[in-house]
Amino acid sequence: MNKTVEILPDLPALVARGLDLILSKLATAIQERGQFSIALSGGSTPKPLYEAIGNQNLPWDKIHVFWGDERYVPADHPDSNELMARRAWLDRVAIPAANIHAVPTLSGNPTVDAAEHEKHLQAFFGSAPGKFPQLDVVLLGMGDDAHTASLFPHTEALSVSDRLVTVGNKDGNPRITFTYPFINAARSVIFLAAGANKRPALAQVFAPAADDFAYPSRLIKPQGELIWLLDQAAGLELKP
Ligand code: 6PG
Repeated sequence: MNKTVEILPDLPALVARGLDLILSKLATAIQERGQFSIALSGGSTPKPLYEAIGNQNLPWDKIHVFWGDERYVPADHPDSNELMARRAWLDRVAIPAANIHAVPTLSGNPTVDAAEHEKHLQAFFGSAPGKFPQLDVVLLGMGDDAHTASLFPHTEALSVSDRLVTVGNKDGNPRITFTYPFINAARSVIFLAAGANKRPALAQVFAPAADDFAYPSRLIKPQGELIWLLDQAAGLELKP
């Protein structure tokens, strides 16, 4: 794992750096493999980044978009990560509908939808069950409790290591989430975290020793590149 930590002055600078990194990895992926695959995170931090991507003139037909996690709500629900990304970016550009690999959340059974999405991912990547295909980029946020994607502290999802997708649990509410081994298979994992409220969790995540199940972002140790983009407020006490 190649880990770097960048502390940017503020959120706009963090977003600009995130955009630079994504555009660079996108160009390399398309040049080398003819397509670029990126999994998006939800929450509030990435929204300006998605808006910035939506302002670019890119080969949209070669770009495939996934979500590292999704709330278990319809795609038109205000809490939907898909809705946020569509409004900020995807509905503003000519990306083919087939390139938007939304998480199914309509069967009424999260386990069924997680299994369906797993099949979809394996078919798209041509991977066999039990094998972890390699996304080019996985974007992640981190909650104040050190959760990432929908891998919440002390939940069953943290123990799932034989699948790409599983059911997360936030305060009893189901979520659909990538598993940590699938995230770790990515070529690059980019965390975006901003705000002083992230400091206590970051201290634990960056600590030499702590309980991975209490601070799930510690489970993210990609085979490829791990990049933390922090603003000054979040990264103040870290010694990168
Ligand atoms: C979600 C996200 C989640 C998010 C963190 C940080 O569905 O909410 O995927 O993991 O990244 O909660 O959220 P903020 O960026 O809003 O702090």
